[in-house]
Amino acid sequence: MQTEYRQRREQLMAKIGTGTAIFRSAPMAVMHNDVEYTYRQDSDFFYLTGFNEAQAVAVLAPHHGEHRFVLFVQPKDREKEVWSGYRCGIDAAKELYGADEAYPISELDEKLPQYLEKADRIYYHLGRDRSFNDKILGHYQSLLRTYPKRGTGPIAIEDTGPILHSMRLVKSETELELMRQAAAIATEAHNYAQEITAPGCYEYEIQAEMERIFRLRGGMGPAYPSIVASGANACVLHYIENVRQMQDGELLLIDAGCAYGYYNSDITRTFPVGRKFTPEQKTLYEIVLEAQKQAIAQIKPGNPHKLVHDTAVRVLTEGLVELGILKGEIDKLIEEEKYKPYYMHRTSHWLGLDVHDVGVYQHGDDKPQILQPGQILTVEPGLYIVPDTKLAEDQPETDPRWIGIGIRIEDDVLVTPGGNEVLTAAVPKAVDEVER
Ligand code: GLY
Ligand code: MN
Ligand code: MN
Repeated sequence: MQTEYRQRREQLMAKIGTGTAIFRSAPMAVMHNDVEYTYRQDSDFFYLTGFNEAQAVAVLAPHHGEHRFVLFVQPKDREKEVWSGYRCGIDAAKELYGADEAYPISELDEKLPQYLEKADRIYYHLGRDRSFNDKILGHYQSLLRTYPKRGTGPIAIEDTGPILHSMRLVKSETELELMRQAAAIATEAHNYAQEITAPGCYEYEIQAEMERIFRLRGGMGPAYPSIVASGANACVLHYIENVRQMQDGELLLIDAGCAYGYYNSDITRTFPVGRKFTPEQKTLYEIVLEAQKQAIAQIKPGNPHKLVHDTAVRVLTEGLVELGILKGEIDKLIEEEKYKPYYMHRTSHWLGLDVHDVGVYQHGDDKPQILQPGQILTVEPGLYIVPDTKLAEDQPETDPRWIGIGIRIEDDVLVTPGGNEVLTAAVPKAVDEVER
């Protein structure tokens, strides 16, 4: 794996040439008072180093003769390690992580300038930590002040995103293996959830069983707070309280994915709590399923990413018109976004180290992002007939029989040379499969 991290650094360094790139580890996040969340490294930092400790900075200086990759890390400290765990320390940062040079993080201000003063620009992502941004800007300013003395030094700061994130967008074989495993674990959990769900269950019971499987299979845990939403709770897109007791005759929407080896899956299924759909649930469900199938069919190399959403929106809008929930001419309804009270989110996002993974969706108004092999994206159309749906004036009142039904179906799809592969296909979604 170290070889792959090195290759990624080399690839990035080839692109930044005479610049110096700086990456910062993720900060520790506080749960409450002095208790912290389990540490999770920043995805860019991890992608380039595999290093998973806090309080670290990675510097890539391709133009520096000896030190092209430098790590600043927390030094070994026996007493602190007893409380909060193993630290790699300075020496192992070189031996295990391949740094050409490593320093204690406390020496960042002193040592950093030597890696910047011959660079023509700094590649750095201005993150949420204002004080660290200020630190980097301070170095930049002081090098600008002394530029006349040297005649070298950075004269611009450029975001690392466009270069690094276009690399992260296309997954390697190693990454794909981890993604497959994240998908397989979540698949098992969803299948089990469908097996055990019954009227009278509490949403948290299903959540607990799924998250048990995530950990049991070696996953890091949920990829995001699991959504287990019964009845009208399914109309709240990010419902995560998961406290309600579900009833016969309702639907259960589960949006839950697993993190495995830092990579994520993201699956949604909606199915009857009892044995069968009601006619209304089934009608809406079939529209969403058809939208998802048609959207997935558009995933192949050469097609624009946008086609996935546009296809889903068309099928959903046609379905709503057929049911009399929307009224009007399809193209016009789509153009005026009249479907939005019932379908208010996008159909697809990139998936990888981040659940909403990095990478652009279009390059300006007239240049779409074209799908290519190795990209992984979700396809997640839905319909949500919210009780207080605010309708346009020219639209009919929603018939009460539809109200309170929320449906989403989401799979993770790999773009392959010949089209696509649905990584999460083994979770049932056909009507006769989810009815019991
Ligand atoms: N669960 C987050 C998403 O589906 O995008
Ligand atoms: Mn999801
Ligand atoms: Mn998603």
